[in-house]
Amino acid sequence: MTSQTKWVGRGCAALAAIAALAAAGNAVAREPFTAAELQAMDDKLTATAKRGYDMWYGARADMSANGLACANCHPDAAATNPHTFPKFMPQFNKVVPYREMVNWCIQNPQVGKALDVNSDDMTALEAYSYYLYRGVKIDTGLATRQTAGATPTSARGLNVKGTGIGFDK
Ligand code: HEC
Repeated sequence: MTSQTKWVGRGCAALAAIAALAAAGNAVAREPFTAAELQAMDDKLTATAKRGYDMWYGARADMSANGLACANCHPDAAATNPHTFPKFMPQFNKVVPYREMVNWCIQNPQVGKALDVNSDDMTALEAYSYYLYRGVKIDTGLATRQTAGATPTSARGLNVKGTGIGFDK
């Protein structure tokens, strides 16, 4: 069975379950999350974004052969524009998701080994960047807010201090 048919199978089972509930006339939503549950979820998100911050500001050996870290060119996730993805990127000659662009920077400016796009590491980098851009209007597809990458000031990967502004504007 391919993973696709497996998902279709699961989807059907879920639909059948919903139909059964509706037929019974008591399709109930689950209980609202408690404050403690919400806090626990928020803590997990914050921990993931913090992990992303550590990766962003520290040049990890597998991700960087020249000591550069994301923050050397993108302090506070500047010029990463997560709200503009998916969009067309000339170096791929196609529309790519944010994750592909992160790997492009790992492999090119940082001369490192690409991350598995489904890894917790990639999610952490994403969480950090998206977190700083929260509230910014999503405007996908175009390079409308694409800004030039900065010139790195150091190849040690650790001496770029964030401004706390969140994104370049
Ligand atoms: C040496 C500088 C440098 C480093 C280090 C670097 N980048 Fe980039 N980054 C660039 C440049 C230059 C571009 C623009 C490339 C282009 O448009 O062709 C860019 C573009 C991007 C974009 C796309 C922004 C847009 O709006 O198109 C993302 C996302 C991104 N970088 C994420 C990262 C992440 C995450 C890291 C660390 C893993 C990183 N970059 C490390 C220079 C760098």
